[in-house]
Amino acid sequence: MKRQAAALALESVRGGMKLGLGTGSTAKHFVELLAERVAQGLDVVGVPTSEQTRALAEKLGVPLGTLDEHPALDLTVDGADEVGPGLALVKGGGGALLREKIVAAASREMIVIADASKKVETLGAFPLPIEVVDFGIAAVRRGIAAAAKAAGCQGVLTLRRRADGHVFVTDQGNLILDAAYGEIPDPAALAAQLSNVPGVVEHGLFINLASRVILAGPAGATTIS
Ligand code: 5RP
Repeated sequence: MKRQAAALALESVRGGMKLGLGTGSTAKHFVELLAERVAQGLDVVGVPTSEQTRALAEKLGVPLGTLDEHPALDLTVDGADEVGPGLALVKGGGGALLREKIVAAASREMIVIADASKKVETLGAFPLPIEVVDFGIAAVRRGIAAAAKAAGCQGVLTLRRRADGHVFVTDQGNLILDAAYGEIPDPAALAAQLSNVPGVVEHGLFINLASRVILAGPAGATTIS
């Protein structure tokens, strides 16, 4: 299903485009399919949203550039952890939310590819990733809790760890707190509140960034825009 969504997104790619390349298992399908087209002569340049995606794209021969070289992208194709009303997203399950958001914001269009299980009525069942600096984390936690409360959210903040128990460090050298709010009644309000907390670098709420979502399920794919 993820590959099907990726294949459909690939239909929007044209020669000469500058593409933001997302992160995660669904975005990986897109990079693999894109690489096949590049091998057949498609001329594009990709800007990866993580070191993981950079390594994959490099290995598969997708021409890469940086956002500094290409500050205005045509299209970004990326996955999501949740897709809510108004195409509001929760992202960052893979820890790449900061670069993903910068790249998406620099793109004329963002297509989200996901399996149909990612579509929800209310965001928040998936813990919201919040990228924070590695300083004064106890105070930053308190700031996040107060900001969340003002937006009607309460929940446990868990410092993300890798499978081996070490603290997870993002590509930008920051930490991630996963916020288990259960429900986010007003994503835009929470996004605004969190952005005001000193020490919060970025959060995984993507509001008004996705232009289209391709959801693939057992019965086929649907596009929401
Ligand atoms: C990484 C992300 C991913 O796009 C998100 O976690 C979805 O991943 P997957 O396609 O593996 O379900 O935001 O930071």
